[in-house]
Amino acid sequence: MKLYQLIYVSKSSYPMSKDDLQEILKTAQENNADQGISGLLVYDRGHFFQVLEGGYNDVETLFTQIQKDKRHSRVNRIVSSHIPERYFSEWGMGFYNLDEMAELDFFKLRKFMKSLHEVTSVEQKSKLAKYALQIFVDLKQNPVSAV
Ligand SMILES: Cc1cc2nc3c(=O)[nH]c(=O)nc-3n(C[C@H](O)[C@H](O)[C@H](O)COP(=O)(O)O)c2cc1C
Repeated sequence: MKLYQLIYVSKSSYPMSKDDLQEILKTAQENNADQGISGLLVYDRGHFFQVLEGGYNDVETLFTQIQKDKRHSRVNRIVSSHIPERYFSEWGMGFYNLDEMAELDFFKLRKFMKSLHEVTSVEQKSKLAKYALQIFVDLKQNPVSAV
C-alpha cells in the first residue's frame, strides 16, 4: 500500500477542556487503529494541528469527516502527499497539549502555529509543514530538549 500523509490546521470552536480533548482522542484512537491510520494531534490555545497518515482513501475519507466536525472550524489543509514511511507509526493518534507543557519554550512554535492559518502559498505551506513535522518528531524522540 502506498502511504499518504495529510496535515491541516484548524481553530477550535470553543476553548477545549481536558475532557473535550480526551473525547476527541478516544474516538481517534479507536477508529484510526481500525483504518490503519496513524498520526499526531497538537492542541495549543484554540489551535489544532493534525497529521494523518495511512492509505490515500482512508486518510481522505477521514479528513472529509473531520472537516464537518462542529468542534472546530477554519480547517485549512497545509500539505498532502505520498510519503515513503510513517512519521508516527507507533501512534493511532499521538497527542501534545502545548498548554500543559509549560516547561518547554514554545514561543517559536506557537508563533508558527498561528502563522500557518494565514499562509496561502503552496510552497510556503510545504516549507512550514516540514519545519513543524521535524519539531514534533524530535519531541517524540527526545521529549525534553526538542524546542
Ligand atoms: C480536531 C479534531 C481531530 C479529530 N481527529 C480524528 C481522528 O483522527 N480520527 C477519528 O476517527 N476522528 C477524529 N475526530 C472526530 C471526527 O470528526 C468524528 O467525530 C468521528 O470520526 C466520528 O466517529 P464516530 O462515528 O465513531 O463517533 C476529530 C475531531 C476533531 C475536532
